[in-house]
Amino acid sequence: MKKVITYGSFDLFHEGHYRLLQRAKDLGDYLIVGVTTETYDAYRGKLNVVDSLMERIEHIRQTGFADEIIIEDHVGQKAEDILKYDIDVFTVGSDWTGVFDYLKKYCQVVYLERTKDISSTMLRAKKYGIIRLGIVGAGRIANRFVPEVKYVSGINIESVYHPYFENAKQFAKKFELNHWHDNFEEFLRGIDAVYIASPHETHEGYTERALEAGKHVLCEKPMALSKNSEERMFELAGRKNCVLMEGIKTAYAPGFMQLLGVMKSGVIGEICDVEACFTKLEDPKARELTDAEYGGSFTELCSYTLLPIVKIFGEKYESIRFDSFTNKKGIDIYTKAYIRYKNGMATSKTGLGVKSEGQLLISGTKGYILVDAPWWKTQSFEIRYENAGQNEKFFTKFLGDGLRYEISDFVSAINGYENKSFKLTRSESVFMAEVIEKFLKERKGDTGRQDGEIQG
Ligand code: CTP
Repeated sequence: MKKVITYGSFDLFHEGHYRLLQRAKDLGDYLIVGVTTETYDAYRGKLNVVDSLMERIEHIRQTGFADEIIIEDHVGQKAEDILKYDIDVFTVGSDWTGVFDYLKKYCQVVYLERTKDISSTMLRAKKYGIIRLGIVGAGRIANRFVPEVKYVSGINIESVYHPYFENAKQFAKKFELNHWHDNFEEFLRGIDAVYIASPHETHEGYTERALEAGKHVLCEKPMALSKNSEERMFELAGRKNCVLMEGIKTAYAPGFMQLLGVMKSGVIGEICDVEACFTKLEDPKARELTDAEYGGSFTELCSYTLLPIVKIFGEKYESIRFDSFTNKKGIDIYTKAYIRYKNGMATSKTGLGVKSEGQLLISGTKGYILVDAPWWKTQSFEIRYENAGQNEKFFTKFLGDGLRYEISDFVSAINGYENKSFKLTRSESVFMAEVIEKFLKERKGDTGRQDGEIQG
């Protein structure tokens, strides 16, 4: 019996898929089809798959060509499967020509001509249209955002807004955008959704104006600087039937999702302590270290460090205490926040003027998880036990600047085909705003220790 194997996502099953399976079956007597999991698709950079794994399997089953359907969930699996199932022919479409030649040492490799003018990507665009996105701001993060959008199908950057016309124009020229504005209302007119990457204190105003105009919003962290503001923004989004998402990239990254899954499985017992540290040395003249009202290490970086804390222990804490080193303007160059929960304790360390190891440490009654620096771009973590022989290390990809994952979920949410809000819930975002509000209030009342003491 001649055995054939092929692989794919088979999203929004179409004629190209049907024809490929038909011809694959004709290459032998028995056809095995490998269908990718969503996690593996995210790993290999294929974002925005619409149909669930079960739906995709069902569509393949209905063709009647597959004698067996298997799941593909990791890199290197193809060679394993070929040996395991004693495969004679490996086949895929001609868009992959050459890529799988390395499998020729195991079996015959056939590239079947791809059916013209049809693909899942095209169907996704047709079904949902292309979301026209506008960017607010032209700073560092906005610059990093634009190239990431290209990795997500169904969304296109139309324009940029900046209060200074020249800045908007420069940005548009750099990224070959067709439109640039210094008038916010005009900017909103030609778009469906907005990405807000302006200074923290302007997030709320821009978000509200965009939502009022019925635009979906992806807002950089911290979305709001007080609990009330954050709640008001979500309430407005709900009323306007718009998507509102806080852009904390780690929350949407596959590695971080895997970490949470592993942790929740109970492998390290009951979790007692979480320590999260994020430091990034900043130019003392930068806005982050000169804006006495909203700058500083905590407001800048706590959205990251609070994320694992709230994911693990939740929103209801018993007490919170801050400790900072501040510069002459009273801006914290380093802040430790101690959070006490009924059954756990947590520390957030953030620094713009103090450098430390950017790791995440989760301690439990049976062992601990150490997430390697930079943990917020989660790529690897290790479960460690008393008996080091049982230690286990996990690896995941964090592609590019990692913004593509949140952009992909933003597109999914707008198209309404999947509710991925569990990755960062509204109440988790509100928790972060509440903690920032507490911190800012405390800082106003007490400028703390002066950096002269440590900088000499
Ligand atoms: N395929 C094909 N002809 C098409 C589209 C896909 O022969 N018009 C083949 C691919 O080459 C692959 C299999 O179908 O062997 C599954 O491909 P998949 O990547 O799931 O489909 P695409 O439509 O290419 O998906 P996307 O647009 O998301 O890349």
